[in-house]
Amino acid sequence: MKKIIKKLGKWLGYLVLACLLLATVAYGYAYLNTEHRLNKVYPTQTPAITISKGSASVTRGAHLYVVHACRDCHGPDLSGRIVLDNPVMGRLVARNLTRGKGGLPADFKEQDWLRTLKHGVNREGKPLLIMPAHETTKISDQDLADIISFCQSSAPVNKQLPPQQMGPLLRMVAGLMDPKFFPAEKINHNLQPIRKIQPDATVAYGEYLATNCTACHQSDFQGGPPLAPGYPPVPNITANGRVGKWTETEFMRTLRTGLTPEGQQLDSTKMPWPRTREFSETELKAVRKFLLSLPKAKSLATN
Ligand code: HEC
Ligand code: HEC
Repeated sequence: MKKIIKKLGKWLGYLVLACLLLATVAYGYAYLNTEHRLNKVYPTQTPAITISKGSASVTRGAHLYVVHACRDCHGPDLSGRIVLDNPVMGRLVARNLTRGKGGLPADFKEQDWLRTLKHGVNREGKPLLIMPAHETTKISDQDLADIISFCQSSAPVNKQLPPQQMGPLLRMVAGLMDPKFFPAEKINHNLQPIRKIQPDATVAYGEYLATNCTACHQSDFQGGPPLAPGYPPVPNITANGRVGKWTETEFMRTLRTGLTPEGQQLDSTKMPWPRTREFSETELKAVRKFLLSLPKAKSLATN
């Protein structure tokens, strides 16, 4: 009996050792793989766009800064924030976009803004982390110009934020499971820019505004399982979902107050209605028109 236990113990020891070895090799691989990808230089060509310094442009930019989700990460005063900080995931930091201490360098030019927003890379052409450039690359040149104009006109805020760090879990996910983890990897860098889009209550404008919804509601807007443990499932927001039964007034109220016609209060930390609350009436009408035009045939809905 003793002999068997001793033998078993030995094998268990080997097993633990093998697992440790495997984990080390996997982590080592993930680390090198992500380092390699983070150091890749993307040759980007960003044709200049005209950025007006006029007050109309700044006002429009202020609104679009909210609509296109910049405020959610970079904050209402543009001074940035630590989005996430824990030893397993790492530290994700949305930059201070102002000219204050800890903000963007004084010579951060229009080209640098465009490289960030259209290609998801920094001034050296290397991929940014988390900054959702695969979404901002779909913003029209006119809207980008106004957003940049607003950001450049913002008051300087002195706020020094710590550097970003990819934690072991993020490295493992990116390195072993997701070859398109960095936004720059999800972008077609040769795509023709959209010059201008007409802001009317149309399906096309709704689709344009709904780009950011796909981050949670999936590319077909049919939702899916919870995004993380402790989160609610993500609902289907096409005509097939509850949204399909709501009147226009009910839809508007939901996206402005978070209270659904069924009496459910949507959690503002899980569903960003404090942002959709700021959408204009035309913008909300457009989004609803687009959502009600779905679901499309399967072959069209998946991209
Ligand atoms: C999901 C959060 C998030 C959203 C939304 C977001 N950003 Fe960022 N942004 C980041 C993070 C994180 C970084 C730092 C990336 C890095 O250094 O790897 C960043 C960096 C930047 C930078 C600096 C890039 C550089 O070269 O260092 C600019 C400029 C910027 N964002 C502008 C914007 C604008 C404008 C919008 C809206 C159109 C926006 N961001 C939306 C998270 C976000
Ligand atoms: C960060 C993830 C996230 C983003 C981005 C997001 N949503 Fe949601 N949405 C959710 C979650 C999660 C719920 C369910 C919330 C709950 O149960 O409290 C939800 C619920 C909803 C509902 C209620 C649906 C129902 O049947 O009750 C609507 C409508 C909605 N979202 C529309 C949108 C629109 C439009 C956008 C883009 C402008 C958007 N969402 C962006 C996560 C998100």
